[in-house]
Amino acid sequence: MQTVRWVKRPTAYLESCRMRYGDVFTMRLMHEGTWVLFSHPEAVKQIFTGSPEVFHAGEANSILAPVLGSHSVLVLDERPHMVQRKLMLPAFHGERMHRYRELIADVASRELSLWPRREAVALAPRMQALTLEVIMRAVFGVREADRLEELRRRLRAFLDATSNPRVWAVLVLLGPERGVGTAPFRRALGRVDAVIYDEIRRRREAPDLQERDDILSMLLGARHEDGSPMTDAELRDELMTLLVAGHETTASALSWALERLVRHPHKLERLRTEALAGGDEYVDAVAKETLRLRPILPLVVRRLTEPVAIAGHELPAGTTVACCIYLMHRRPEVYPDPGAFRPERFLEQPAGTYTWIPFGGGVRRCLGGSFAMFEMKTVLQTLAASASLAPADPRAEHVRRRAITFVPERGAEVVVGDAVAPAGEKVAA
Ligand code: HEM
Repeated sequence: MQTVRWVKRPTAYLESCRMRYGDVFTMRLMHEGTWVLFSHPEAVKQIFTGSPEVFHAGEANSILAPVLGSHSVLVLDERPHMVQRKLMLPAFHGERMHRYRELIADVASRELSLWPRREAVALAPRMQALTLEVIMRAVFGVREADRLEELRRRLRAFLDATSNPRVWAVLVLLGPERGVGTAPFRRALGRVDAVIYDEIRRRREAPDLQERDDILSMLLGARHEDGSPMTDAELRDELMTLLVAGHETTASALSWALERLVRHPHKLERLRTEALAGGDEYVDAVAKETLRLRPILPLVVRRLTEPVAIAGHELPAGTTVACCIYLMHRRPEVYPDPGAFRPERFLEQPAGTYTWIPFGGGVRRCLGGSFAMFEMKTVLQTLAASASLAPADPRAEHVRRRAITFVPERGAEVVVGDAVAPAGEKVAA
C-alpha cells in the first residue's frame, strides 16, 4: 500500500505522513526497503555534511546503474565518486555557463517559432524537445545537422522507453536489474550506446578539439591524477548520466515555471519587462521559486554504512535516509504562505543552503545545478520577451509523476499569441 501511494499520489502521501507523524517518518517500499525521511533543516544539514564514507548516495542511487553504467558519478561512492566528480567539475563551473547563452536562446527561439498560435498547446513535450536539443549541442557538442537528427531519434526512443509508465510498472514489479533486461529496453539502450561511442571516437580526432566549448570536449581534455585521460567507457557513462540527470529534470522545471507564470500575469509581465531591459534579478527569483514550490525530485537519498543518530533517532547501518525536498520547501516558518507562488520572497531573502534544496547538497549536490538555472533563466527570458502566453484553462495543474520527476498533470497547457511588446511600450492588461 505504501508503494502504491508513493507511486500514485506522492505529494498527498508525503503531506499526510507529515500531518500524522511530524518531521521524521518511515516509508517501506517494494525493492527499496526502508526509507527514513527527514525535513527539518538541522537533520538535512547533518545528512548533507556527513562523511561520504558513512552516507552513501551512489549505493542509494544504484537503481540507475544498469542504464548509467558503473563509472557514472551518480552511482559511485567515496574515492571513486570524488575522482569522477573532480574530472567533471571544471566543465560545469558557474561562470562557464554564460558561453551557452546564445546557443540556448537560439534553441528556445526556434522552438517557439514551431508552436501553434491561438490554440491550446502542452508545453511539457516542447520543453523536452528543447532541453534535449540543448544537451545534444552544449553537452555532447554535436553540430552537423544529419548527426543531430540521428542522435535526436535514438535518444528520443531511449528516453521514451525510460519514462513509459508500462516500463516503470515492470521496473517496480521486477526490480531494476530484471526490468532493464527486457528486450525493447536493451535494444533502445544499445542504439544509444553505439551513437555515443561513435561521437566520442570522432571527437577525439577532431582537429579543433582545443577550441571547442562543449562539455564532452572539456571532458576529453580532463586528466586523472596520474595524468591519464578518461576512458571511452568513463566518457560514455558520464554522458549518459548528464543526459538522464539533466534532460527531463530541466524540461519539467521549465514546464512548471510557465504553468505558474501564466496564472500570475503580473509576475509574467514583470519578467517580460526585465527581460526586455536586459536584467536578470527577477528571472533568477522566478526560477528559484518554481523549484521551491514544485521541486522536480521530491527527495534525495543516502544509505548508511554504519549506525548513526539523526534528530534523536538511532538508525542502523543499511538504513536509507532521505532529505525530503518537497516537505522542506513547504515549511511555513521558512517560507510564509508556502503554497503561494511568490518569486519576490527570493528578492527579500537569499535561498538557504539547507532550506532551499532542489539540487540536493554537500559533496553530492547536483553537478548541473548552475547549468540548469542558467538554462531555465535564458529560456524563460527568451519566451517572455517574444510571445504572449495565457493558460489554456484557468484551473491550476496538479502534480503528476512521470518516471521519477514531478510534472504538471496536463503538460502545462498554454495558448500562445504573437503579441510582442516593443521595449518600453506598455502591454495592454
Ligand atoms: C532543474 C533541473 C535539475 C534538478 C532539479 C536536478 C536535481 C538533482 C538532484 C536532487 C541531485 C541529487 C543531489 C544529491 O544527492 O544531493 C542531482 C544530481 C546530479 N545532477 Fe542534477 N538536476 C537538474 C539538472 C541537471 C543537469 C542539467 C545536469 C547536467 C547536465 C545534472 C547533472 C547531475 C549530476 C551529474 C548529478 C550527480 C552528482 C553526484 O552524485 O555527485 N542535473 N541533480
